[in-house]
Amino acid sequence: MVLSINSNDLLYFEQLQPPPQTRTSMLQEKKDGSTNYSKKDQDDLGLWEEKFGNFLDIKANGPSSIGLDFSLHGFQHVYGIPQHAETLLLKNTSNEDVYRLYNLDVFGYRIHSKMGIYGSVPLLLAHKPDRTIGVFWLNSSETLVEITTKAAMKVLPSQIPDVSKQRVLPQTDVCWMSESGIIDSFILMGPSPFDIFKQYAQLTGTQALPPLFSLGYHQCRWNYVDEKDVEGVDTGFDVFNIPYDVMWLDIEHTDGKRYFTWDKETFGNPKRMQKKILMKKKRKLVVILDPHIKVDPLYTIYSQGKERGYFVKDRKGGDFEGICWPGSSSYLDFTNPKVRDWYAELFAFKTYKGSTEILFAWNDMNEPSVFRGAELTMQKDAVHYGNWEHREVHNLYGFYQQMATAEGLIRRSGNLERPFVLTRSFFAGSQRYGAVWTGDNKAEWSYLKISIPMLLTLSIAGISFCGADVGGFVGDPEPELFVRWYQAGALQPFFRGHANMHTKRREPWLFGEKNTQIIRAAIKERYSLLPYLYSLFYQAHTTAEPVMRPIWVEFPKQLEAFGIEDEYMLGKALLVHPVTEPKVTTVSILLPGSEEIWYDFRKFSCLKTQGILKIPVTLDNIPVIQRGGTIIPLKTSVGKSTEWMVDVPYELRAALDSKESAAGELYLDDGHSFQYLHEKQFLLRKFTFYQNVFSSRHADGDPRYHTKCKVEQITILGMKKQPSTVTASIHGGKNKKVAFTYDAKNSVLILQKLSLHVGKDWELHIQ
Ligand code: NOJ
Repeated sequence: MVLSINSNDLLYFEQLQPPPQTRTSMLQEKKDGSTNYSKKDQDDLGLWEEKFGNFLDIKANGPSSIGLDFSLHGFQHVYGIPQHAETLLLKNTSNEDVYRLYNLDVFGYRIHSKMGIYGSVPLLLAHKPDRTIGVFWLNSSETLVEITTKAAMKVLPSQIPDVSKQRVLPQTDVCWMSESGIIDSFILMGPSPFDIFKQYAQLTGTQALPPLFSLGYHQCRWNYVDEKDVEGVDTGFDVFNIPYDVMWLDIEHTDGKRYFTWDKETFGNPKRMQKKILMKKKRKLVVILDPHIKVDPLYTIYSQGKERGYFVKDRKGGDFEGICWPGSSSYLDFTNPKVRDWYAELFAFKTYKGSTEILFAWNDMNEPSVFRGAELTMQKDAVHYGNWEHREVHNLYGFYQQMATAEGLIRRSGNLERPFVLTRSFFAGSQRYGAVWTGDNKAEWSYLKISIPMLLTLSIAGISFCGADVGGFVGDPEPELFVRWYQAGALQPFFRGHANMHTKRREPWLFGEKNTQIIRAAIKERYSLLPYLYSLFYQAHTTAEPVMRPIWVEFPKQLEAFGIEDEYMLGKALLVHPVTEPKVTTVSILLPGSEEIWYDFRKFSCLKTQGILKIPVTLDNIPVIQRGGTIIPLKTSVGKSTEWMVDVPYELRAALDSKESAAGELYLDDGHSFQYLHEKQFLLRKFTFYQNVFSSRHADGDPRYHTKCKVEQITILGMKKQPSTVTASIHGGKNKKVAFTYDAKNSVLILQKLSLHVGKDWELHIQ
């Protein structure tokens, strides 16, 4: 038995009950929202209302909480339930706060806290060496999760009749409690971590395949002040020879925080800016679009929204009003399909003046954030479409905004182009609409460190496309931290530098020549790795494998790996160990797997040791290690942005395992449209190295994507003998001899000037 339900008898549900008539009439609300009633009335009405500081929450249906416990037998390692600034391994909450899932705007959130921050995914994974299981608690109201890990006496069946063995086994009890809603829970049976990812994806969907540009580097700041500033920053990247793909504009680009508009003074000609500065250089723009809408009858989005009844209502039936960036604001009710449909239409080029096809979207403040609201969010007794109280759908609000935004971007392109939408708030399934970042972190080492378990937790909860503000949002990073953050971010799924308005400017070249050079190298390395990263995203999209993975996911039997959160795998081939402390000269890395061979990704040397390896580090880079048995596709050179690199030839880097073989793949398509889906216009190349033959073949029906791109170089790490000849045999062509060099010291064979079509089948025979 792996799981039992209600063993601790914690199943409960409260029944919905409208407040009794006579009692409601006693509620005489004052203008300030407080009520006036006697002590006795208060006792009577206690169940229908709750005071929270100055806020009064009227519960239309009375208390409506639900709860249930799950006992996970034999498990002591549990993971998941983002988002918390906490360890990868979930903690026992017997003597600590319980984990709270309640989407909130928390500026500079506290580390090692179980408070709810921007998003929630109520999925918990439990793992032991031979089994992974999952519990998905599908509820979008405020939820608490209690975790108790203990040693339990188990009676185990025995072969000998009448003799039973007693053994102490670990057990983790997980109790979910939600403020309202129904008990709707799914048990995922695994048995492997990858089975869990697939099973969960069957329920909530897989990661949307991002447009390729969005895997490049993003440059953001609150705020790039005007068109000239944008131009200067954009040029800076070229002057300093640093690739980047996307310029971002924060709230100040709008006319008085009216989203979908432009400030006339600073961004007077947004189309020109996009065309002359960005499009020309094959780069993109992302602008911010928050869900609050300024109360201003002259602002079309407000007046239309008001007229059509598209805002969330307060409990008295008026439009809910709260304060946010623009001052008094109403909040679009994205839970209403009509509102989503209407919102999506706002992205039509003719409606969204000044937008072009290179403009993409950023949804912020969508927990939703309400300044001066209870816990800085919306009153729970606000009312949504279908008469749902806000308390029921709170954790879904941001999810629906991102859904509508992604739909808008798709529609404006005539359903041809893939969208890019970054959201701060999210829920189970948000992976289908774009990317997520970890909100307002601080420019401190501890925040760099915690970003790794935070991103790993998001990744195993289905959200592969995730990242943290590089450099740290709040405060000014010291140069060493800044450099280390770029090195970490460059090897994480979503890679964006961002900074709060009160910080000093920090474009990547502002920290002196030496640091600029290191940051440039980190960003360039990411660009050379994009074919691998994009292929990983294709796998996330089709088979639900997370792009960034905890070590235990790849090495499920290795106990020492279960708590590792300072290193991670990018796909199954690369192990990354960011440096998250100052002045580090060596790092200890767990090299997992007893049979594995590992190679230094940059020096190509074989790292003989098993277990813990101490590696010297300098400021120049962070350790990246390739696993034997894998082949990684790379680009041989880097351009100004991803679009400049379309025709750049590939290198395939193979690292041999103990059987002297390796395998890998490359996914390739046009990088931006849905043709891969509708017309199957993509290439999925499978590469293998086996018995001295390196071969390339298509792995999914007839290849329908055509490219002239070549494989120029193949590097084979762990090649024990120097070959005498290498011959390329190309399907339908002549055999030809291949030039090579061999480094006997490191056992590295490099095949150069190959000029093999990436889309064609071929073999290389090494003799
Ligand atoms: C809060 C977001 O988390 C931050 O990234 C953004 O810069 C500010 N809002 C201003 O829009």
